[in-house]
Amino acid sequence: MEFDKASADWVYAAKDLGDTEKLAEVLAGQAIPGTVIALDGDLGAGKTAFSKLFAKHLGVEGTVNSPTFTLIKEYEGRLLFYHMDVYRLSLDEAEELGLDEYFYGSGVTLVEWASLITEILPPNLLHIYVESVASTERNLYVKGYGQPYEAWIKTLKENGVS
Ligand SMILES: Nc1ncnc2c1ncn2[C@@H]1O[C@H](COP(=O)(O)OP(=O)(O)O)[C@@H](O)[C@H]1O
Ligand SMILES: [Mg+2]
Repeated sequence: MEFDKASADWVYAAKDLGDTEKLAEVLAGQAIPGTVIALDGDLGAGKTAFSKLFAKHLGVEGTVNSPTFTLIKEYEGRLLFYHMDVYRLSLDEAEELGLDEYFYGSGVTLVEWASLITEILPPNLLHIYVESVASTERNLYVKGYGQPYEAWIKTLKENGVS
């Protein structure tokens, strides 16, 4: 699923990393077993930065590093947290890895470069496209597929991130 910015449900304009953290905090607070967040955006846009902040607010202690070379890293927070980067993965390899066990398990999964494995992503997920606007400014385009994500979007639209 290439992210079509025009079809985003909601766009969040972050002025700096602190603003990105506010969105990460709200979403981490809403996360439940089986939550899947698909992240896309150019290299250096802020997918890993968002993931680190999300992990922090999910109660993960210690350092969350980019999983670019490890593909999947697992952490313990309020829920198990799976952090994936599928940039180097072919669709065949992704299928062989059995990612469904993560997507349909009781943890929370964030996938960087998710559009590369669209075919094997679950139908219900929150898709976020991170776009770099200026040195610390980012636009985060958010789209919800199914529940509970559509309800999350409704809340974001009504309340923002505060
Ligand atoms: N508002 C912001 N949101 C996210 N990252 C930001 C923001 N402002 C600056 N940055 C910086 O941009 C860089 C994004 O890098 P990274 O998260 O590794 O990108 P990606 O994983 O998308 O390739 C980080 O150094 C981060 O600190
Ligand atoms: Mg990254």
